[in-house]
Amino acid sequence: MLKHFISIADYSKQEIEEIFSLTKNLKEKTKKGEEHHLCKGLTMSMIFAKPSARTRISFETGMYQLGGYALYLSPNDIGIGKRESVSDISRVISRYNDIIMARLFDHKHIVELAEFASVPVINGLTDYNHPCQIMADMYTILEHRGHLDDLKITYIGDGNNVANSWINLASILPFNLTICSPSGYEPNNDILVRAKEKNISNVQVLSNPEEAVKDADIVYTDVWASMGQESETKERHDIFKNYQINQQLMSLAKVGAKVMHCLPAHRGDEITDEVIDGPQSIVFDESENRMHVQKAIIVKLLGKA
Ligand code: CP
Ligand code: NVA
Repeated sequence: MLKHFISIADYSKQEIEEIFSLTKNLKEKTKKGEEHHLCKGLTMSMIFAKPSARTRISFETGMYQLGGYALYLSPNDIGIGKRESVSDISRVISRYNDIIMARLFDHKHIVELAEFASVPVINGLTDYNHPCQIMADMYTILEHRGHLDDLKITYIGDGNNVANSWINLASILPFNLTICSPSGYEPNNDILVRAKEKNISNVQVLSNPEEAVKDADIVYTDVWASMGQESETKERHDIFKNYQINQQLMSLAKVGAKVMHCLPAHRGDEITDEVIDGPQSIVFDESENRMHVQKAIIVKLLGKA
């Protein structure tokens, strides 16, 4: 097992399957109310340079359930990379805590945090990727479906951090992944090239949503303007308006297809109320699984499995 969790691309198929198996075990214990204090007495600093609901709540609650303690550092606390250098705060926190979770803007900063840390670092989202999210998403799909055979996931929208992590996962586990983005908003090209070179999954990038959702088992979306892109909201709204997941688009996917969204959702923009609240939506299972999968990641990184 690697020491950090910065990108899914750093992990093997076997390691990902081990995390999923541990997730199942920890989720069952949680549901039964069985104590599972695998991280008793251990502490985690959670550095947030951006806002969060799910990431903070799921990590903080998960660490508590593991018998440990997590402390929240808000965007005003450290001023990482501004008030204090990444390398200094990394070494300081490593003296206090057993593990670090960070949500940062610049991906280079989380790489540097890991480089200088003497404890494991978990990536809770950067502008570049969101690995914990996609681990929870795939775990959720496997819970609903049981296997990856003939799975087609269609991601509609911005080629952002979430889309990038989907492609990273497709370079490790085999499935069909279609990313559908407007021209100029496609995912990171290096990540795409690497996934194509690895040739584990069939990854394609399209620009027509009607074509992209054909035969999809999972239709996935995310906000059109990510955290840090708020000033582009109006411009992006115009560019992405035909990329909304609505009932009409869902009718073109496979019968019984499921809908996913990492949340927070901008209802009425990238997804309609009818779809997100409808019978095909599994967004709240997905959201819950953030906590279970992250507990497994913490336990693995701390060698407590
Ligand atoms: N999906 C997700 O990471 O949510 P938050 O931004 O609320 O943490
Ligand atoms: N792409 C979104 C994901 C939020 C969980 C963002 O970065 O804001």
